[in-house]
Amino acid sequence: MDLIAKLPVVAATIYRNTYRDGKGVGAVDENRDWSANYCSMLGFEDPQFTELMRLYLTIHSDHEGGNVSAHTTHLVGSALSDPYLSFAAGLNGLAGPLHGLANQEVLVWLQKLGKHLGDNYSEDQLKEFIWKTLKSGRVIPGYGHAVLRKTDPRYACQREFALKHLPEDPLFKLVAAVYKVVPPILTELGKVKNPWPNVDSHSGVLLQHYGFREMNYYTVMFGVSRALGVLAQLIWSRALGFPIERPKSMSTELLMKQLAH
Ligand code: MLT
Repeated sequence: MDLIAKLPVVAATIYRNTYRDGKGVGAVDENRDWSANYCSMLGFEDPQFTELMRLYLTIHSDHEGGNVSAHTTHLVGSALSDPYLSFAAGLNGLAGPLHGLANQEVLVWLQKLGKHLGDNYSEDQLKEFIWKTLKSGRVIPGYGHAVLRKTDPRYACQREFALKHLPEDPLFKLVAAVYKVVPPILTELGKVKNPWPNVDSHSGVLLQHYGFREMNYYTVMFGVSRALGVLAQLIWSRALGFPIERPKSMSTELLMKQLAH
């Protein structure tokens, strides 16, 4: 609970030291919620941005517990390492491009795509770009997921937010156009298990709209949110007395036996 309470202060201090005047983040206002405090410590007072962050901090808090950051926190915590060490380990996993860093990669890709297409593009031009990307062996960032087999509900609720608050934002319009075009192309391609967008496909665009442009910081925000899920799980693991995690290894003999089958 201490760690969760202190995280927004630590994360906002990092933001202000790195991107702003480095002046103090101010005191926590106990009459305001976690998101409102975090936003004002970051220096963002727009109530709509605070509302977006309520959504953002909720939807990024966990995902089934099997994802890299949650599982890593659990693994390290299973050695009875303290919550600070366990969470730090989880965040090292979150920093990977196939995990928390993905929303940044999506944004870079979208910005490149927007530049390439210009303001007036047709659906066919967009399709052509997508096919070219795929045929050159690259993937469409933000599409697909290790376990999901439909549009990530976290994508859907961010889309709903955008449709309500920023329907005319050019980058959102591009995200919406990509959503229309990419799933049928990936389905036609036939190689992917999940042609639908995931959470990372949308979040960067929303943050950009409200002037939160420092994309190198996005994983930090993701981490602040993820603390809610992974640390709650750590408490359950302790309460239930879960054992240290130790995957079994295989002897050469066993491997040879399996190969023989
Ligand atoms: C997550 O929220 O951690 C991502 O959806 C990745 C995952 O679930 O494996």
